[in-house]
Amino acid sequence: MNYPEYRPRRTRLNASVRSMVRENTLKAEDLVYPLFVKPGTGIRDEVSSMPGVFQLSLDQLDSEVAQLKKLGIPAVILFGLPEGKDPMGSEGYADTGIVQQAVRAIKAAHPDYYVITDVCVCEYTDHGHCGVLDPDGYVLNDPTLSLLAQVALSHARAGADMVAPSDMMDGRVQAIRAALDSEDFINVPIMAYSAKYASGYYGPFRDAADSAPSFGDRSQYQMDPANSDEAIRETALDINEGADIVMVKPALAYMDVLRRLKDEFGYPTAAYNVSGEYAMVKAAALNGWIDEQRVVMETMMGFKRAGADIIITYHAKDVAKWLLEK
Ligand code: PBG
Ligand code: ZN
Repeated sequence: MNYPEYRPRRTRLNASVRSMVRENTLKAEDLVYPLFVKPGTGIRDEVSSMPGVFQLSLDQLDSEVAQLKKLGIPAVILFGLPEGKDPMGSEGYADTGIVQQAVRAIKAAHPDYYVITDVCVCEYTDHGHCGVLDPDGYVLNDPTLSLLAQVALSHARAGADMVAPSDMMDGRVQAIRAALDSEDFINVPIMAYSAKYASGYYGPFRDAADSAPSFGDRSQYQMDPANSDEAIRETALDINEGADIVMVKPALAYMDVLRRLKDEFGYPTAAYNVSGEYAMVKAAALNGWIDEQRVVMETMMGFKRAGADIIITYHAKDVAKWLLEK
């Protein structure tokens, strides 16, 4: 069919027909909200580079989750700011660690709320890298695997519903699956940060989670932004090792990768709309340069269109509110 018989504008004439032909929908159930947890009481510290995002103490989690539930957001992903750090990141796998306590606190107040934990060691190591170092400062792959397995296991023991390894060591999904199964956590899924890129967009997160590497960067383990064939190989490995959900991170500059992974594997696919992406939008919105609601909703729909089933985003509460107002 060609013009003038076919006129695409016919199905854009009014809101009713537009909604009938709409291909993608965004729901609050698609969203996961990241939470930063730190020791202390009565603490709500706003992250300076992420307006509207707060580091919370354990006692704040009950009311925070109550609010998320009311908004229809089904899950959180937890990040921890530990009391202390050491070369092995031992608070990361301590049963008394901050994330383990946070999981218990949320489960005590809201037993049915879905809690995902980020599994890595960079927030807990004194050097800020996502693994153990050799004397030259090289991040050792295989010795890191048992640490990650211990972290994941300690989260599951605390009651985490799902674990999400973000370290980018080779073989971590296999190591974590084996550890979980060895203690009968056979129903705890793994959401693998499969295509996680070495990105400048993580800048504000490193303020929020105090996890900047003390030297060098993460290019020896996170992916090169120039690559997308490699994302297929990375994801194939994670799936073979037992990943239940795969992830692309960051999201905005990597929508092509999202689409490729969804087409290639048809697996449940998550997009992580990261801290720097949030900070850019917030900064422009606070200056009055963009219409925040419009831009954020358009971005979320972009993730859906690109193939995301799950969107992890700091905008989650605003998005859920806007969806309710519609
Ligand atoms: C830890 C981790 C990071 C993020 C999630 N987990 C930081 C990093 O890899 O440097 C980034 C999240 C964000 O920027 O919002 N491995
Ligand atoms: Zn890390």
